[in-house]
Amino acid sequence: MIIAVDGPAASGKGTLARRLASHFGFHYLDTGSLYRAVALAVLKQGAVPADAKAAEIAAASLILPDRDDPALRSEAVSAAASMVAAFPQVRAHVLEYQRKFAATPPGAVLDGRDIGTVVCPQADVKLFVTAKPEVRACRRLLERQAQGEQLDYDELLADIRARDARDMNRAIAPLKPATDARLLDTSDLDIETAFQAALRLIEGS
Ligand code: DC
Repeated sequence: MIIAVDGPAASGKGTLARRLASHFGFHYLDTGSLYRAVALAVLKQGAVPADAKAAEIAAASLILPDRDDPALRSEAVSAAASMVAAFPQVRAHVLEYQRKFAATPPGAVLDGRDIGTVVCPQADVKLFVTAKPEVRACRRLLERQAQGEQLDYDELLADIRARDARDMNRAIAPLKPATDARLLDTSDLDIETAFQAALRLIEGS
């Protein structure tokens, strides 16, 4: 059983996917953390995220990152992840990794941008989770404040919009709902209500 959860940054897809995995007893993969790990490796080497060769080498030696590593969550790594994710060679390495993971019994929940369209087009359930950019920027701001970081709302909103545009307009595996995806807008929903709505969509699939 495979559940694909796609959507833009800070849409709530990660929280939902993690809860769904624990609800069903499935494995969970945050595929964004793989692109983040590639980006972090590139930056650590002193290379720039636009360096396709450095990104490809980092992707080829990818190992499962600790998704809770705060270094993976910085705004610099978020932007760089979206850049390295546009390189076909990077995506090819990450694709292989994700497909192996998705095949782990008894089932897996993967969240990302292209799970329902490219990584697991055969997924049993596909959710596309969205929220208004302003709501997503606000969530990110509160999340960061809780971690003791002070960020600027307008800058966060601009970063989110830039990342959406890059993820949606790239030539390979752009962010878009699969034709058979169920849409869930979490703009006005708290986590619990969004989770219940996702369960209803899954049960109706
Ligand atoms: O989900 P996230 O914000 O952690 O993802 C970071 C970046 O990685 C995102 O801006 C685009 C890229 N990504 C992708 O291209 N495909 C995925 N399946 C997951 C993430």
